[in-house]
Amino acid sequence: MRNILAFYCILLAVNSFADQRIATGNTTIPVAIAASSPPSTATGEIVPLSSLNLGEVQQSWGSPQANQSVGGRKMAISGEKFLTGLGTHARSVLWIDLKGGARRFTASVGIDDEVVTPIVLRELRSAFEKGYEEYKKVNGRVIFQIYGDGKLLWRSKVMQTGMPAMKADVDLTGIQTLVLVVSSMGEAVNYDHADWADANFVVTGTKPKTISPPREATYILTPKASSQPRINGAKVFGVRPESPFLFTIPATGDRPMKFTARNLPKGLKLDSTSGQITGVLKHKGEWTVVVRAANSAGAAQQKLKIVCGDTLALTPPMGWNTWNVFVRDPDEVKVRAAADAMVRSGLINHGWTYINIDDCWQNKHSSKDPLVAGEGRDTNGMVLANKKFPDMKGLCDYIHSKGLKAGIYSSPGLYTCQGHTGSFQHEEQDARRYAEWGFDYLKYDWCYTTHSAKNISLYEQRIPWSTMALALARTKRDIIFSLSETLDVWPWAKEVGANSWRTTGDITDTWSSMDDIGFTQNGLEHVAGPGHWNDCDMFVVGTLGGGRLHPTRLTPNEQYTHISLWCLLASPLLIGCDMTQFDDFTLGLLTNDEVLEVNQDPLGQQAHRISKDENVEVWAKDMEDGSKAVGLFNRGEFENIVTVSRSELGLAGKKTVRDLWRQKDLSEFPESFSIKVARHGATLIRIRSSGK
Ligand code: GLA
Repeated sequence: MRNILAFYCILLAVNSFADQRIATGNTTIPVAIAASSPPSTATGEIVPLSSLNLGEVQQSWGSPQANQSVGGRKMAISGEKFLTGLGTHARSVLWIDLKGGARRFTASVGIDDEVVTPIVLRELRSAFEKGYEEYKKVNGRVIFQIYGDGKLLWRSKVMQTGMPAMKADVDLTGIQTLVLVVSSMGEAVNYDHADWADANFVVTGTKPKTISPPREATYILTPKASSQPRINGAKVFGVRPESPFLFTIPATGDRPMKFTARNLPKGLKLDSTSGQITGVLKHKGEWTVVVRAANSAGAAQQKLKIVCGDTLALTPPMGWNTWNVFVRDPDEVKVRAAADAMVRSGLINHGWTYINIDDCWQNKHSSKDPLVAGEGRDTNGMVLANKKFPDMKGLCDYIHSKGLKAGIYSSPGLYTCQGHTGSFQHEEQDARRYAEWGFDYLKYDWCYTTHSAKNISLYEQRIPWSTMALALARTKRDIIFSLSETLDVWPWAKEVGANSWRTTGDITDTWSSMDDIGFTQNGLEHVAGPGHWNDCDMFVVGTLGGGRLHPTRLTPNEQYTHISLWCLLASPLLIGCDMTQFDDFTLGLLTNDEVLEVNQDPLGQQAHRISKDENVEVWAKDMEDGSKAVGLFNRGEFENIVTVSRSELGLAGKKTVRDLWRQKDLSEFPESFSIKVARHGATLIRIRSSGK
């Protein structure tokens, strides 16, 4: 498994003042140190923080270390060495149960020197002493916070690499629960190696004990769909001339439902019962079709723009993928069951479309499993599916018969990431085969590429991607081309013909993973747009795999944050769970049409960050109709008030605020809009001109 953070954090020796992705122009950085209680003179037993069970520390990279830095070295902050403490990595959170037994907590905090070479460290220290502006741009920028029973007891200033340690000395008398937090203040968490050095409790009663954060009750916000028809999903659909056309009109409401369409271009037909539009368009052109859905409770109509040209994925693809739940063991039965579940659960009525097979459908030469072992290709060089997928064409036909689309996976290397047959030197044949089978989506994953690219230079990287893009373009099928890559391909991925590209390492169902991926996308918005999207990886909600099947470890609030943020970011939306085991909460998360509309908006804008402090952030994007979608997020450990002003959003005139999860109008937009947001939670609003 590749990890971009690991890559950055190992590159310690090449660090310099320059930070490629820091653009904190509109970032609010608190510089004042919050008032803390006067240092207590309490005496008692000294209990080092590092003597507690550090397994409870949640952090965005690496693992917590007792008495050494997160990189496993002796702790040092700006040249000062420390023998004890906790070496962690922002964003880092530790909950500690004190039961009122501790009197005092002291620590020296800062960024560990290990993130730079001694020469760079010397430069930084001297720059810091001289107060140079460039110093602000260095990698490794965090704020340490200490909370007692939900109240901020102490906060550091923004601690940067090379800055001398700051001393915390906090009176804990009467405090039941302590929370230690390190927030990242850069664009990304890279180099945020944070030390709680020389950290000790003075204890007179019960000894401190680390604990898990509190559990949250599950709550469903999405209102039940009405029995009346409502047409959901994308309002614009791209297709190429001569390719088979399939678009299922997503509509909620009682069945039976009758679909009709006005102005359907020649070559297309609509099945009035299923809502499936099929056929072939011979020539380029644009049509605005008016689709209508009617049932015994009423009728609804909606414009659908069909654009026949060169660009696919005019809105971010929405679907499902085998990897997060079935990992190395996908098979045809599971994939068919997923297609059935996408229909049965009603997800198809909200625009969910793709059923994608990830890695491990091919043979693997070295495998001992008779279902998977075997030649990678036939004597003509055509790729073979393994015995778990005995009939790929039949499987694709089945998926299409449901009004859904099918996706497949490969790598530009000799092998895929899991060592199955890759496409190297067979790109043309593979693209042909995928098209013959009937696939509509290819995830192409950068693995085993030493033959396909001599190095990771821009030039070398582009060759394998464009080879496959051209091969796909030569098929008579519309196959979305999705790059799975953690190197920085976004500046040019569109030029090599990609419809989406990963901007992150692999997501896991933990807050630190999801939070770190989601909140580090700022600055990439300029490369996203209709036909080409930044991909933040798949959803980690519902029942997931990777070892035992288990419910996601994200809390309900974290899951609302996850979906809200991915929708704002216009990321492809790929469900990663077992769809045969949906619970009402997960279904609610995935079927809120007003929330999904933020993702599927035809303007295709990706949200950017409007403001940030150590705990709360506001992100916003423009919608095609002139409204704005705004996410108010609380990354902190306690409820926080999140505020956004008219001037920050550039609003003029009377505006109304709608809560998208609850699908309820809230109020007129005042000078400044503030709302309480729960720990790790989100409020997603849409701001429209009043009267619209
Ligand atoms: C990489 C990708 C994952 C998944 C696996 C399969 O790690 O990033 O999403 O496709 O490969 O091997």
